[in-house]
Amino acid sequence: MMPEQYRRKDLLSIRDLSPGEILFLLDMTDSFREVNEREIKKVPSLRGKTVVNLFFEPSTRTRTSFEIAGKRLSADVINIAASVSSAQKGETLRDTARNIEAMSTDVVVVRHSASGAPAYLAGELNCGVVNAGDGCHEHPTQALLDLYTIREHKKEFDGLRVSIVGDIARSRVARSNIIALSKLGAEVMICGPRTMLPAEAESLGARVSTRVEEAIEWSDVLMTLRIQLEREAGAAFPSAREYAATFGINRKRLEGAKRDLLIMHPGPINRGVELSPDVADGPFSVILEQVEYGVACRMGILYLLAGQREEVDGGPETGGSPDGPAEARPESTEVRDAVAH
Ligand code: CP
Repeated sequence: MMPEQYRRKDLLSIRDLSPGEILFLLDMTDSFREVNEREIKKVPSLRGKTVVNLFFEPSTRTRTSFEIAGKRLSADVINIAASVSSAQKGETLRDTARNIEAMSTDVVVVRHSASGAPAYLAGELNCGVVNAGDGCHEHPTQALLDLYTIREHKKEFDGLRVSIVGDIARSRVARSNIIALSKLGAEVMICGPRTMLPAEAESLGARVSTRVEEAIEWSDVLMTLRIQLEREAGAAFPSAREYAATFGINRKRLEGAKRDLLIMHPGPINRGVELSPDVADGPFSVILEQVEYGVACRMGILYLLAGQREEVDGGPETGGSPDGPAEARPESTEVRDAVAH
C-alpha cells in the first residue's frame, strides 16, 4: 500500500477514503509534528486564511486541537459555539454556514449531533468542510490520530489485532476506526454488552465478543470508548457500576494482556467506568499521545484543505482533477517550505 495524494475539497468520512489517502494523511502528520516540537511552534503556511470551528455539541479535545492547529499554521481561527450563536434564534444550519462562508472563510470544521450534517454542508458550501464528529456516524480526524498513534508504536497495520471495547453502536469513533483499520489490513474485534453492539457488526468485517477478558488476551491494541450516557447508553446497561464490573479495564484484568499492549481512549474518560484510574495513567496507556498527535494531524488536514484550494484545478466542487494541483506529498517542496519557517 502506497500513500496517494489527497485532492478532496472536504474531509467527511473515513469510508470515503482509499487506503492510500489514509496513509498520505498519516505521512502529513509526520511532517507537521516536527513544528510542534520547536520552541516557536508557528509557521506562516496559512497566513491570510480563515478557519471557523462551528460546534453544535460540546468538545474539549477536537475543538481546541483544531484551534491550535490553525493558529500554528498562522490562520485566523474563529470558534462558534451553537449555544451562543443565532441557531438559538431559529437560524437554519444552512443559513448559519452560508453566512460564515460569506465572510471569506476557507475551512469550516463542523461538529453536529445529526449524522450527515457535515456532508450536507459540504454540498452547500464552496469552502472546505471537515467533519469533527457527526451523530453516531463518523469522527474521521479522531480515527486518523488514533491510526497515527498506533503506527508510532506498532509500525505496521497488517495483521495487527485491535479491539474496540464499549458502546460500539452509538460510537462514531468506533465506526471510523473499524473502517480505517480494516482498510489498512488490521484485524478488528468489537467487544461490549450485546445491547451496545451494532446489528451490522459482522458486516463491518469485525470479530465480535461479549467477554472483555477474551478481547484483552487477543489484542495488540485495546481501544476503549466512553459510555455515552447522553446518547441513551444508560438504557443499554443497568448502571455505570455494573458496566465497570463487567467490561471495565483494570489492573487485574490486564494480567492476561500482551506485555506490549497499547491502551487507547478518545476521551473524555469516565474514570472508574471504562478504565480504572491506574490503567488510564499507567504504562500501557497512550491516551495523552493521542491528544498530542491530534494537533499535527489536524495541521496536515487544514493545510491540505485551506492551503492548496486555489491550486486545485477543476474548482472546489470537483475536489480537483487528478492532473490538477502541485504535488503535496509530505516529502514535497511545498510541505518542506510549509514547515521550514
Ligand atoms: N475525542 C473527542 O472527540 O473529544 P472531544 O469531545 O473533547 O472533542
